[in-house]
Amino acid sequence: MKLLAVVICCLPVFAFAQQDAQALAKEKACLGCHSIDTHTMSVPSYEKIAEKYHGDPDARAYLADKIRNGGKGVWAGGGRSLMPAFLNLSQQEINLLVDWILAMKK
Ligand code: HEC
Repeated sequence: MKLLAVVICCLPVFAFAQQDAQALAKEKACLGCHSIDTHTMSVPSYEKIAEKYHGDPDARAYLADKIRNGGKGVWAGGGRSLMPAFLNLSQQEINLLVDWILAMKK
């Protein structure tokens, strides 16, 4: 009974957060480069990123840092493909995006 109450109360909140994150990813142009499910040589898909870091206890901090400061050389682009830095995102927005991406593990 308690569990049911938790499910009923939290599901809509989760769905809302998910939609929020996706809208943010669109607004900040993340989805202009990244696809959720199409992985390419130059840009990793969010599902592949989730697969790679799922279960890593440091992943949230690591990925948050990557989004804020950018990076290169981790994925197949071999240093030619850049993840730009997003200095204009708040910590809260970054956390929302990181959780959204990590939740894509199938
Ligand atoms: C100009 C294209 C571009 C945009 C815009 C972009 N990314 Fe990326 N992103 C990349 C590339 C290319 C990589 C792979 C870099 C590498 O190989 O280290 C990457 C890597 C990542 C990674 C994985 C980092 C790692 O070290 O494994 C995450 C998470 C990520 N991007 C999230 C985002 C988010 C969130 C946004 C929007 C705020 C965003 N990206 C916008 C191109 C982009």
